[in-house]
Amino acid sequence: MNVIEIKPDIYWVGVVDWAVRDFHGYVTPSGTTYNNYLVMDEEVTLVDTVKHDFLEVGIANIKSVVDPSMIKNIVINHIENDHMGALERVMEIVPRDVTIYTTQRGKSGMDRFFDISKWNIKIVKTGDEIKTGKYKLKFIETPMIHWPDSMMTYVDGAKLLLSQDAFGQHVATAARFDDEFIDSASWAELEDSTLDYYANILMPFGTLIKAKINEIQKMGIEIDMIAPDHGIIWRKHHERAMEMYLDMANNKAKERIVIIYDTMWSSTEQMTLPMLRGIRDEGVDCKVIKLRSTPMSVAIKEFWKSRGCLIGSPTLNNEVFPSIAEFMVHLKGLRPKERLMAAFGSYGWGGGAVNWLYEMFKQMKMPVIEPGIQVQYRLKAEDEKHCYEFGRNFARQVKEYQKKFNSASTAM
Ligand code: FEO
Repeated sequence: MNVIEIKPDIYWVGVVDWAVRDFHGYVTPSGTTYNNYLVMDEEVTLVDTVKHDFLEVGIANIKSVVDPSMIKNIVINHIENDHMGALERVMEIVPRDVTIYTTQRGKSGMDRFFDISKWNIKIVKTGDEIKTGKYKLKFIETPMIHWPDSMMTYVDGAKLLLSQDAFGQHVATAARFDDEFIDSASWAELEDSTLDYYANILMPFGTLIKAKINEIQKMGIEIDMIAPDHGIIWRKHHERAMEMYLDMANNKAKERIVIIYDTMWSSTEQMTLPMLRGIRDEGVDCKVIKLRSTPMSVAIKEFWKSRGCLIGSPTLNNEVFPSIAEFMVHLKGLRPKERLMAAFGSYGWGGGAVNWLYEMFKQMKMPVIEPGIQVQYRLKAEDEKHCYEFGRNFARQVKEYQKKFNSASTAM
């Protein structure tokens, strides 16, 4: 992809990764981009680099705008490999006295990746600024959004927030801007990609995200473009992107249930059908996901969209089924909140999966509906009836929970 001027004298010099399908375990059916930016001011400044695999393309992009020997500053907003991977190579082609700006933790982390003994690194904090000419770069630390080193860079004079991972999406596209993407795909696809990214990467950090957005709003800086390190740049719908982030940080979800299950000999699977009928008869939307047929990241996204979640597992060797255990451990790490949970499953003799799931829900401090429901070997007509009632009751509870959640949110 050609470089693009996104603001006067500010260029996107990133790369599009059309092929990546596994982003450190996160399935990315639409690929991704590694965005970095070049500020062509009196002091030429590069913000972030690209993933190591793409370093020569990234360098060619920089060279198409400027001779790298003209670069005076490099800002590293985030040291994760997909954004800092090419830094060592970039340092070979820029002047030896180039100044690198990053946070204290950014510098400490950088020291673990590279030999930085000859690099001129300046540590910056929230509110620190550098003047590059007509523009001023203002740094905003965003620790744990989503690594301890993370920060954003606001380009004063351009109303541009370079937001690193926040507000990103994993989509490879020829569109560079939100409105272009909506024209070639749809708003729904953009919204879904943004939600998917938040659910899989940023879910644990809602409280921090809310506080940081409030802090940025109080700083009184004017933003008319948000340029993240993945996906499209928000030039038309940046306010909507900010609202979406606030909604997600406030744990908003649809009045909807997701059933996530796995199965050995179809009994647990068969339990989902009467449950689904019960849920639908209560007027609640429902999505059913079989884990071994679905990427984990899709299951996480569907979980995040929904106010209620039913997890179904057969018992294997007195334990929960392995794919469900893997999912639950992953979900626990994402520290979800405000989702109502319940469990169901089938067993042959001893059982154990449903108890395991409730233990896990309790460790996660999730609200639950107890007891769960279990079926031995095979569903009989009476079990189907119980499953239907279980689904229907769970849907009622989810509606009630949503009502309370909404009135608490309005009262805030
Ligand atoms: Fe896109 Fe946290 O790296």
